[in-house]
Amino acid sequence: MKVPTLKFGNKLVDTPIVQGGMAVKVSTSELAVAVAEQGGVGIIGGTGLSMEELRQQVREARDATRGLLGVNIMVAAREFKEAVMVALKEKVDVIVAGAGFSRDVFTICREWKTPVMTMVSSVKVARLAERLGAAAVIVEGCDAGGHLGTEEKTAALMPAICEAVSIPVIAAGGFADGEDIGRMLELGAAGVQLGTRFLLSEECTVHKNFKNLLLNAKASDLVRIISPVGLPANAINTPLVQKHLAGDPVIRSTDCNRCLKHCNHSFCILKALLAASQDGDYERGLFFTGKRYTDIKSVEPVKKIFADLLQGARDYLSQPSGPVPGAGSQPTPG
Ligand SMILES: Cc1cc2nc3c(=O)[nH]c(=O)nc-3n(C[C@H](O)[C@H](O)[C@H](O)COP(=O)(O)O)c2cc1C
Repeated sequence: MKVPTLKFGNKLVDTPIVQGGMAVKVSTSELAVAVAEQGGVGIIGGTGLSMEELRQQVREARDATRGLLGVNIMVAAREFKEAVMVALKEKVDVIVAGAGFSRDVFTICREWKTPVMTMVSSVKVARLAERLGAAAVIVEGCDAGGHLGTEEKTAALMPAICEAVSIPVIAAGGFADGEDIGRMLELGAAGVQLGTRFLLSEECTVHKNFKNLLLNAKASDLVRIISPVGLPANAINTPLVQKHLAGDPVIRSTDCNRCLKHCNHSFCILKALLAASQDGDYERGLFFTGKRYTDIKSVEPVKKIFADLLQGARDYLSQPSGPVPGAGSQPTPG
């Protein structure tokens, strides 16, 4: 089996690698452009930006590449529809709806003739997305970065969802190398989405403390929290997270700008994510990450990450799947 191209809606990319949208200034235009230039799908994290910032980000990216660019917007964000409209007016190639499910986005994007991908973690929601007109579904398991919709691993979810829908299925969550990509393609994935691997790239514009924190953290530093949005997420166990887990009222959010449709105000997630991505502040920051950060050993340019991922996937897929014919019974040549 060869590493396939990725087709969704009327779009085609050479490489079936999607860079996961990462909110609050983690996946900005620099990263999305670098990925698009390598023949993958580059995604700007649209949540946590003002509408003007988002417009600016998409324009910068559009001016810098002819590759495929999208915007990911959290359905849980209060300005979800406004952000979708900004992205559509700036002519992005794809809208990705994450952290929740929106029916309206399909109607809006159909009018704008722009494909929509939506994050799913069950057969039921994948079928619904297909019925409503999704160009692809992104199946995200419990090892992923960002908000989670399931306790199942991606590999466990994939076979049933691939069987249930006929649109492309993209696997996400817990992937660090090319072998992971090969495995998912073998399971029927049309593409693979990675977040943390691209957070740990040179082009990702987060504060260097965020990258160093992940590079130096042990597996035991990861905890599962229920974020103020009300969804589970994987995060590094920093002082803010410890206070949150202990129910400490000292971190409760007081001055709120209502960035979310629903929030329990246990702390201000927008400020905490900004403290992580912009200030690299260990005390006040919320550092979301996928579980496989321990397998990523260095910050590298996106070009090298792509080359290694693709080589790894090719090597994996070119291995004979069954026992090597005649192995161990043939005399060695020469
Ligand atoms: C810091 C961070 C922020 C994220 N923000 C979003 C987001 O705004 N919307 C979304 O749908 N997914 C978000 N994700 C999930 C990614 O898009 C991607 O699906 C996920 O990271 C894949 O898992 P991996 O990190 O193990 O590769 C985020 C992930 C991280 C690490």
